[in-house]
Amino acid sequence: MRRPLALGIETSCDDTACALVAADGRVLASVVASQLAAHRPYGGVVPEIASREHLRAWPEVSAAAFARAGVSLAEVDLVAATKGPGLIGSLLVGLAVGQTTAWARGLPFHGVHHLEGHLFSPFLREAGEAAEAAPAEFVGLVVSGGHTALYAVADGRIEPLAETRDDAIGEAFDKLGKRLGLPYPQGPRVDELAERGQAEAAPLTIAAPGRELFFSYSGLKTQALVALGRLEEKGVATTIADDAEPPAPVLDLLAGFRAAAVGQLLDRLARLHRRRPIPLLAVSGGVAANRLLRRALPAWCAEREIALRLVPLPYCGDNAAMIAWAAEQRHARGLADDPLAASAASRLAL
Ligand code: KG4
Ligand code: ZN
Repeated sequence: MRRPLALGIETSCDDTACALVAADGRVLASVVASQLAAHRPYGGVVPEIASREHLRAWPEVSAAAFARAGVSLAEVDLVAATKGPGLIGSLLVGLAVGQTTAWARGLPFHGVHHLEGHLFSPFLREAGEAAEAAPAEFVGLVVSGGHTALYAVADGRIEPLAETRDDAIGEAFDKLGKRLGLPYPQGPRVDELAERGQAEAAPLTIAAPGRELFFSYSGLKTQALVALGRLEEKGVATTIADDAEPPAPVLDLLAGFRAAAVGQLLDRLARLHRRRPIPLLAVSGGVAANRLLRRALPAWCAEREIALRLVPLPYCGDNAAMIAWAAEQRHARGLADDPLAASAASRLAL
């Protein structure tokens, strides 16, 4: 194991996650416990339930991570926890665990920004391999249920380039899936169903105001919802029962929606690349698991000779390995936070 060994803690939303990551970015263990079952009856994440579930799950999740890594708490050299943004009650659970652990054991502490974790996650590797050192300069695209954003990273400094003006891309997938009667999170299921549709049969337009870089997904979501309403008027069933095969026009509509959603990402990347050439593109976040996006990006980047790092599937969704890895890099740059002074914030600029 390459020291220092980092303990990572992530509880910003509805996943309780603990990881142990070596100095070279080797993930010794990354355990994520989903709270989906607890929130499902309510059709979305209930903040009060989320914080209680984190408290309940933490002992088991952390024990599993230490067992898998084959290390003890005495071997941990630094502690990292997500400080924001996210649900405040959820953040407080993980942050308090991290702060007290670091303070009690006299270890360096890092309160990590959730998006900084996602941004550097494409450099992590699977199967116990060391992470790739992030290049001095790269562009990060973070696509998740809460964020759709572009950042320029230079020597560890992070400059925001564009955000979404309304819905995040994952949120649009979820809301469309909810209208179809699918359980939360609907994004993966919409993606799966879209694989079986013909996007050309139901083309939707990419919201493309001028040459601006910002994203916008609420217009696209509305287009898709209106189109679904029209199908319903024609007598097409637009509620998807558990195992039943949805009608072809619904599958086509989902394919059209997904193509436009991914198309908007590529459109903004192209705009940015014309403005300032992208040296390397690092793509992360839950929506980075999207099948179409994972197929489209390599070709798009190859055509423009842009190096691409797509986050490995296990680190797409929220996880603690990315938090520990971000902390390892901060530690290497000589940074640290005071465990007694760190505070959680539901909204937090990068
Ligand atoms: O990063 P993440 O786990 O949580 C945050 O939002 O921070 O991302 C979850 C989001 C959800 O909106 C989920 O529906 C979406 O990512 N998602 C997908 C896919 N897998 C997850 N959206 C589209 N296609 C997918 N394959
Ligand atoms: Zn996230």
